Amino acid sequence: MSQYIVARLRVEHRPDALGIQNASPRLSWCIEGDGAASQRAYEVRMTRADSSIEVARIERPEQILVRWPFAALNSREAVTVDVRVELTDGTVTSWSPSLTIEAGLLDASDWKAQFISPSLTAGHDAPRPAALMRTEFRSDDHVIKARLYATAHGIYSMTLNGVPVGDQELTPGWTSYGHRLRYQVYDVTQLIAVGDNAIGAQLADGWYRGRLGFHGGVWDNYGTHVALLAQLEFETADGTRSVVPITERWRFAPGPVLAAGLYDGETFDARLEPSGWDRAGFDDSGWQVPHLVEAPSQTARLEASVSPPVRVVEVLAPVTIQPASPGRVRVDFGQNIAGRLAIRVRGEAGHTVRLHHAEVLEHGELAVRPLRTAPSVDSYTLRGDPQGESWTPTFSIHGFRYAELENWPGTIGRDDVQALVMHTDMERTGWFDSSSPLLDRLHENVVWSMRGNFVDLPTDCPQRDERLGWTGDIQVFAPAATFLYDCAGLLDNWLQDLAAEQSADGHVPNFVPWIACGFPVESSAAWGDAATIVPWVLYERTGDAEVLQRQYISMARWVDHLAAMADGGLIRSGFQLGDWLDPAAPSDSPADGVTDKYLVANAYLVRSARIVAETARILGNLNDEARYRELATQTENAFRSEYVTSEGRLSNETVTSISLALTFDLLQVPADRAHAGERLAGLVAEGGYRVQTGFVGTPIVCDALVAAGAVDTAYRLLLEEACPSWLYPVTMGATTIWERWDSMLPDGSINPGEMTSFNHYAFGAVADFMHRVVAGLAPASLGYRTIRIAPKPGKVLRHASARLRTPYGVAESRWKRRDNDFTLDILIPIGTSAEIVLPDAGATVHHLEAGSHRLTCSLQDSASANRPTCSTELTAPNSP
Ligand code: BGC
Repeated sequence: MSQYIVARLRVEHRPDALGIQNASPRLSWCIEGDGAASQRAYEVRMTRADSSIEVARIERPEQILVRWPFAALNSREAVTVDVRVELTDGTVTSWSPSLTIEAGLLDASDWKAQFISPSLTAGHDAPRPAALMRTEFRSDDHVIKARLYATAHGIYSMTLNGVPVGDQELTPGWTSYGHRLRYQVYDVTQLIAVGDNAIGAQLADGWYRGRLGFHGGVWDNYGTHVALLAQLEFETADGTRSVVPITERWRFAPGPVLAAGLYDGETFDARLEPSGWDRAGFDDSGWQVPHLVEAPSQTARLEASVSPPVRVVEVLAPVTIQPASPGRVRVDFGQNIAGRLAIRVRGEAGHTVRLHHAEVLEHGELAVRPLRTAPSVDSYTLRGDPQGESWTPTFSIHGFRYAELENWPGTIGRDDVQALVMHTDMERTGWFDSSSPLLDRLHENVVWSMRGNFVDLPTDCPQRDERLGWTGDIQVFAPAATFLYDCAGLLDNWLQDLAAEQSADGHVPNFVPWIACGFPVESSAAWGDAATIVPWVLYERTGDAEVLQRQYISMARWVDHLAAMADGGLIRSGFQLGDWLDPAAPSDSPADGVTDKYLVANAYLVRSARIVAETARILGNLNDEARYRELATQTENAFRSEYVTSEGRLSNETVTSISLALTFDLLQVPADRAHAGERLAGLVAEGGYRVQTGFVGTPIVCDALVAAGAVDTAYRLLLEEACPSWLYPVTMGATTIWERWDSMLPDGSINPGEMTSFNHYAFGAVADFMHRVVAGLAPASLGYRTIRIAPKPGKVLRHASARLRTPYGVAESRWKRRDNDFTLDILIPIGTSAEIVLPDAGATVHHLEAGSHRLTCSLQDSASANRPTCSTELTAPNSP
């Protein structure tokens, strides 16, 4: 028996494989075992529905996103695959647990159904009702396989015989609907009865037609009518295949959801829900016939999702329930989240309970000003069930820690109200801890801000009238995000929209999907650079080379766009957001920080041009490679002529500008780099170790300090608690990352700025530094195939660790120090190797293969832990 097993067989970036759009999906797997051998060859075995088997043997070491070795799948085709591998020590594993892969509807002609639209009166200035829709069908025999394919213009929820068809929320999610609309595939085999069956649907505005954006927002962004597209296909035991396009027989009527808006909340009157409407036999003769909307092929491309769905992923019980202002009960869940309340209430028919949400309290009251024009109030009118009734909204989502229940009938217990945490159901992959409880809470806050904002797409915030896919925010946060969760599918999906919405001249909207709600259309540096940087981060961290291939045109166009904006080799004018939210910027003008906006723009131009050149090289496009390298070099030279003085100093010497120059490698002369490093450490010290950076400088300042040899300065900055700093919000009780360094002022009042969220991940980008440098776990080659473990312990922390489920398996770097003794325990998964640099002056690189290893050294002079002399003992590879 082999001591190795093949585990975690996966397809593309999805944890499940029901309804994939890719007919030749890529496969990945991990090899687990206690030896250090790696894969020499693999076999993929595919079993078709007719039990025929095909096996492909490939003599290659790759195990991540390998090509589909068989003929492309047909629409609806389901196969099972399993994998076994032969290792370099000659052993062969047994077959892995098998994975069923089922293709979706791959061709537009597979859709027999048409969009159907309920024509409920739709005003334009208030949240609109959701329609109830229903149809019936018969099955004359026992069903052995049934699939429901569904999507909507709007947000839909569906039931079959009264049972929800799945646990997905906010379907079909938000994409650039003019280009791409995702459909969902549900296995409803168990829900169909022999005889008459009913399908029920509820359909609300959602992103399609609901209000989106700030300054009052914009309605009807994608169309004036919501519509449902649903196709049920089933096979019965006697071999009959039925396709129920569910078009003509649908009926609709107004229902209990009187109003539903993502920002506004949901108004539900339970008295208006017709009893049994979603069951067979209901008399819908008084209901209306929906009208047909144009065939799906004439609208956006229909695609199965490449990302996991949004789900309720956790349920929080109240930490406290207390009386609040007259008529209200306040509930504190102890954690700022994105999600909804679930209530259980008993009272008289017609009694209405209102649910208010807020992230923080101010002067003892719910702070709702930061929500701006997103009231976030749900309202439930009881049907009067003496047994009590349970409710949660379906079409809204809020960012909150506190809720106030207004007009609650009778007493309320802990079980009567819960907070449902919702986000894209990504697998957690990364963890960090250290000897500093405040730093650990900061990290936890980053995790929660990612959870609050990875709701189908990467948004800025979950609570106010935005929740938009701001490009700059994810550009800076992507490295941290890809460590914490497997978000490759979500980002992959979003990048497709970015490319779809990019104009032919390369302009990238500042948020994607774009809504024309008054924000300048011109692209800004660091925001539009998401076009190059996010694909690059995905490539580096997940090993997905196809993402580069697919995004290449978008990446190159963005750089061409920048080059066309340049005047004399540099960008010198035009709209820029600069080092957004630098603490020195006026609170009502966050782009006006101390760092020259065009310096930022030009630094990013160099970085993006280099990324495109490198991508062209990887893709074998040598002409492009030369062209973009030349552009990068010319811009770099122009940058130096413009911004570096003859004494080798940056003309606009700020923490952000120097951090850019150092981390983007923009200074050529070693003396200039040394000088810049000293100035950076000096500026940080002069600033009392308070943060002096915005969106651009914050993710890189600690790296720049470490590159300059100022490790202890980086730690002082990271561990500073006075405002502005990363830990200040933690000392103020924050449970998420705030948008502003001082979203809450030290006296507990809220920053008067009109833009003050308490759940914005951008400043949490520093988590990447915590993983890569504090704990010391970083990718050294594609998808962590080679791992670099090089912790920089500094003087203050006693221990730190990072644990990551890489595409190959779990890797870990865990160090501790006692006086002068430094111990590093590492774990390297099979299929990878690691280069390890202990914190010694010599920076010797040790190479180790898969297994657990312990390395020790002595920090002989702990007072100067930046440059300790270090003696290294390596235990044998693979020792426990
Ligand atoms: C968003 C930010 C965004 C910025 C750019 C804000 O309103 O919340 O995170 O990047 O605008 O203008």
